[in-house]
Amino acid sequence: MKLVFKDGDILKERSNALILGVYEDGLDEMAKRVDKRVRKKVSKLLSSGEFEARLNSTSIIHAFGGFPSERLLLVGLGKHSEFTIEKLRQASGTAAVAVRNKGLKNAVSSLHLCEVPEASPSDVGQAIAEATTLALYRFGKYKTEKDVVKEYAKEIKSLVLPEKNAARCRELRSGAGIGEKIAKAVSHVRDLVSEPAGVLTPTELANRARDLSKEHGFKCSIIMPEGIKKLNMGAFLAVAQGSHQPPRLIVLEHNGGGAARPLVLVGKAITFDSGGISIKPWEGMEEMKDDMSGGAAVLGAVCAAAQLKLPINLVGIIPSTENLPGGGAYKPGDVLRSMSGITIEVISTDAEGRLILCDALAYAARYKPAAIIDLATLTGACVVALGHVNSGLMGNDEGLLKKIEVASRVTSEKVWRLPLDDEYAKQIKSDIADVKNVGGRPAGTITAALFLKKFVGDTPWAHLDIAGTAWTKEAMPYCPKGATGIGVRLLTELARAYYTT
Ligand code: BES
Ligand code: ZN
Ligand code: ZN
Repeated sequence: MKLVFKDGDILKERSNALILGVYEDGLDEMAKRVDKRVRKKVSKLLSSGEFEARLNSTSIIHAFGGFPSERLLLVGLGKHSEFTIEKLRQASGTAAVAVRNKGLKNAVSSLHLCEVPEASPSDVGQAIAEATTLALYRFGKYKTEKDVVKEYAKEIKSLVLPEKNAARCRELRSGAGIGEKIAKAVSHVRDLVSEPAGVLTPTELANRARDLSKEHGFKCSIIMPEGIKKLNMGAFLAVAQGSHQPPRLIVLEHNGGGAARPLVLVGKAITFDSGGISIKPWEGMEEMKDDMSGGAAVLGAVCAAAQLKLPINLVGIIPSTENLPGGGAYKPGDVLRSMSGITIEVISTDAEGRLILCDALAYAARYKPAAIIDLATLTGACVVALGHVNSGLMGNDEGLLKKIEVASRVTSEKVWRLPLDDEYAKQIKSDIADVKNVGGRPAGTITAALFLKKFVGDTPWAHLDIAGTAWTKEAMPYCPKGATGIGVRLLTELARAYYTT
C-alpha cells in the first residue's frame, strides 16, 4: 500500500471512500464540511444513535455525489477532549482494515487533520503510517484454500491524505517515512514469530538475520557451536544439548554513533520450548514457537535503527536454540558452569530462558555498554501478574527504567514495573551451586529477573518480560491475531530519544 501526503483538498479528491474521523461529542470543522455535502446524514446518524462515534466504531454510507469519493467511511474517535496519539493510531488502523475488508482499492483520509495535543505533524504522520501498515499486516503464506487466498489478496493500493499547508505536509510526510520504516521492522518480527518452529530453527533464524543485515545495512556475525564452546557458555550449551538442531549466537551491530558506548540489546530466542525433560503439558504447547519473540524484537530494533540511520551504536545479542528432551538433554539436578564462572543448579529444564540469557548477558559486557536491555518471553508468572496488556519491567538502574517508561508512554507499548527487592533473592539460593534456576512459585517473574541480575554486574540494565504481550489471541486495532512484534517500537523510540549522539 502507498501512503501519500499531498497538497490538495479532501473534498476534491476522487477515491473509493473518504475516511472521516467523528468525535462522540460534536463535529469538528472538517466533519461539518463533509456533513453539509451529504445532506446532514452524519448528524442524523449521530442523533438517531445509529452511529455513536465510540473509538474504533465504523459506519459506511454511499456519498451519492456529495463529493468525488464514492463512499463515506465514518470512524469513531471518542471524546474530543480525551483524544490522544494512541487513539489516532487505533482509528487509523480500524479505518484501514474497514476499507480493505470492503474490498476497496483506494481511499482518501482526513485523519491527519484531527487535533492531537502535544503531537507535532511529524508525530501524526508517523502514527498514521505505523498503524495503517501494522493493521493491514497478514501472515498468509500457509493458506491454500481458494476463497481464503482470494480474501488475502484484497489489498488497498493507496491511501491519500491531502494537506493544504505545504510546510505541515512536508512534516507529515517525513514522519510517515519514519513510521513506515518502523512498521516494516515490526512486520519482519511478526513474520519470524509466526513461522512454525519446524521451519524457523536456530539455523534459519540466523540465516534470516543475515539476510536482513544485508538488506538494511548492519553487521551480523553468527557464532557456531564450536565458537559458543570456546566462549565457555556452559549454561547456553546445556539447553542446546537436548536437540539435534545446533544452537546459534547471533550478534548484530549498527554502528552509527562514533565513539559512544553502545546500547546493547539481548533477546531470548528459543525457537521452540517443549520444556525439555521437565516437559510441558500438550495443551497450548504449539504456542511455544513464540519463545523467540525477544530475540526477534532485538533483530527488529536493529533493523529499524539501521533503516532510520540513527546516530547511535546499537548491538543486538541473540542466543538461539531449541529446548527439547532428546537423549543428550540436560537434566534437573545438573550443575552448569556459566561463561561468567557462576555455577547454576538446574531445578527445572523449563526455566531455560534465563540459562541462555545469562551467558548472553555476560558476553554483552565485552561491549562496555552504556546500558543493557534484555527482552524475553521468560515466565508464565508474568502472564498471571500482568495478563496480555503490560510487559513486566525490572532492572538495576532507576534512570534507565524511567527512560523506558517514557518511551513506553510515547509508543503505547505498555510496561509495568515489578520490584527487585533483595529479600526475594533467597528463593534462588542453591545448596550445591551458586544459584538455582527456579525460585518456586511465589514472585516467579521477579526471581527470574534476580537470576539475570547476577550476570550484569554494575552496568545499567533493564529486563522486559514479554511472555504475555508477544502474542495476541484477539485482534486489536492495529495488530491482527497472532504475533504482535512487541518491543520494536518501544526500543526504537528509546534509542531515538536517549541514545543518539
Ligand atoms: N517460555 C516459558 C515462559 C512462557 C510461559 C512464555 C507462557 C509464554 C507463555 C519459559 O521458558 C518457562 O517455561 N518458564 C517456566 C519457569 C518455571 C519452570 C520456573 C514457567 O513460567 O512456567
Ligand atoms: Zn521454558
Ligand atoms: Zn521458554
